[in-house]
Amino acid sequence: MEHSATPEVRVLDAAEAAVPFLLQELRAVALSSDEGAEHRPLISFATGGTFTAFFRALDAEIQEGRLDPTSFVGTHLDEYMGFEPERAGGMVHELTLRCPPLRDMIARGSFLPVPCHGAEGSLRAHEERIERAGGIKLQLLGIGRNGHVAFNEPGASFDEGFHVTALAESTRADAKSRFVPDQPPRRAVTAGLRSILGAERIILCAFGSDKAEAVATMLQGEINGTCPASALRTHKNVLVLLDPAAASNLDADKAADAIS
Ligand code: GLP
Repeated sequence: MEHSATPEVRVLDAAEAAVPFLLQELRAVALSSDEGAEHRPLISFATGGTFTAFFRALDAEIQEGRLDPTSFVGTHLDEYMGFEPERAGGMVHELTLRCPPLRDMIARGSFLPVPCHGAEGSLRAHEERIERAGGIKLQLLGIGRNGHVAFNEPGASFDEGFHVTALAESTRADAKSRFVPDQPPRRAVTAGLRSILGAERIILCAFGSDKAEAVATMLQGEINGTCPASALRTHKNVLVLLDPAAASNLDADKAADAIS
């Protein structure tokens, strides 16, 4: 890779402290939509346990009138292959369960679900929709234990758009509980690293000691596909929010740079 930008890293006292932080970022982006602007800002959400508390809080923000859901357009990163929005276990199902106003946004056409069947034409059309919406202003991201982001597993290219991919066994094992008594799917549709890096601002959250090794490799290892999250170091506007456990493998210099 040509250059290595330094993401801003913040180590929070606890994972819960990320919630007001994320809401504030989201509000700022939503409010940046000027009267008469061509596009409402597009915000792309991530799924996973990392964001459960955030989505509950987002639900309350919208239901209690503190955030206008018509002030932004939403989308997300990835979907299990063939999982329509209503199907339990799927990513959109998870999002709408935790934050029901997103369901209304889908109905109004202001939330763009990832095409779950992975047909090439539908994926290119999805990318065009994102482009027509003015691109992604804010991308939220989690990280897998193996350094994956969205479903870009180790070995992923930095130069791919939305595509169908095979899930790593550790990813399937981590997803097991959402599919019992069935087995987790083997394939998914995901935003590629090129799609993710196209966002104006990226906020990655990682909490817990299970993520410590992936976080250290992302921030301090080689920048290559072995750790897909390391691609974020080629982007100029990335914020990484960690709790102390997720930051525990960072070496002393990086930990000293981090703002507690
Ligand atoms: C899945 C998703 C990722 C997410 C990861 C971590 O694999 N595709 O986008 O970051 O899980 O999930 P969790 O937040 O539950 O640890």
